[in-house]
Amino acid sequence: MSDSTCNRYKHKSVSDLGGLQDLRGLRPTILAPMDGYSDWPFRSLCRDLGSAMSYTEFVRAADVLNRPHYVEKKLAYREEERPVVYQLYGHEAETILEAALRLRERGPDILDVNMGCPNNSIANRGAGVGLMRSPREVARIFKALTQYLDIPITGKIRLGWEDHKNYVQIAQIIEENGGALVAVHGRTKEQGYTGKADWDAIAEVCQAVSIPVVGNGDVKTVADIQAMRDQTGCEGVMIGRAARGNPWIFSGLDRGEVSPSRVEETMLIHLNRSLEFYGPKRGLILFRKFAARYLSPYDLSPEVRRKLLTRENPSEFKALLARIIGN
Ligand SMILES: Cc1cc2nc3c(=O)[nH]c(=O)nc-3n(C[C@H](O)[C@H](O)[C@H](O)COP(=O)(O)O)c2cc1C
Repeated sequence: MSDSTCNRYKHKSVSDLGGLQDLRGLRPTILAPMDGYSDWPFRSLCRDLGSAMSYTEFVRAADVLNRPHYVEKKLAYREEERPVVYQLYGHEAETILEAALRLRERGPDILDVNMGCPNNSIANRGAGVGLMRSPREVARIFKALTQYLDIPITGKIRLGWEDHKNYVQIAQIIEENGGALVAVHGRTKEQGYTGKADWDAIAEVCQAVSIPVVGNGDVKTVADIQAMRDQTGCEGVMIGRAARGNPWIFSGLDRGEVSPSRVEETMLIHLNRSLEFYGPKRGLILFRKFAARYLSPYDLSPEVRRKLLTRENPSEFKALLARIIGN
């Protein structure tokens, strides 16, 4: 790697980063990485509304190396989004390092290793939460990444597997091998996305490491953000599913506090970004799943809902939306 490339990456630790300088003081809320959701249109919207950093959707290390066109759209970001976090998944240090070096050339602020994905197709092959079964490999990955990259390396973990809840051990390994931050989703592999997230386990991690800990799981309201901080002592709070219908949570608003005109205004900003990013056809199709969530508090008849969500023309969609929201 040339000197000029190295000089571009001047950040040494998470605390050096713009937006995270006072991580401990600011106690940020952050949009969780969500495959199929945290694309540029939604991520940048949440960032505008107050999410402290932009995690992109996870990408498979081998795809970065062998099918770069496949991950191109997932990795596209804009300067205003910084700090930008790229998230990789894979099962061994060599491929992850090689992919990370490739990704580094695109200028992310942070590189994160996914150790939380519970899908069998990933976890049973030793990646995602499957990596938590191999503490030695986690150590090798963090050692290699922190040695060869000069941007902060972070990890996102779960509690582990029901028969092997080793979240404290893995968080410590991340710290011991140079990791700059650990995000903890308080569920096991087997829980997937159901059951209650264990915030006491997140508190345990906060006690066990001195790098910043970001808590995640079951934060649905503004009050939950403070409750998680109080119960766990975590530095940051990461919000996933609840943000999909309420990105205003990053501005400190519960869904019921957002006026219909603001809902429409934000939906149009989101839709326009989607159209710009994916083009009119795909942009509208991909926006539909968000529209359904934005509109879920409204008592729409199945017919009106279907009519809106099957529009193929953005102008027709916008006109019908205005009529539904009734401004
Ligand atoms: C549809 C979906 C996609 C997800 N994709 C990712 C991902 O790419 N990387 C990741 O680390 N976690 C991913 N997650 C997990 C979330 O980041 C988060 O840990 C989880 O949803 C728990 O937070 P929540 O209770 O606030 O939703 C995903 C979750 C969902 C629902």
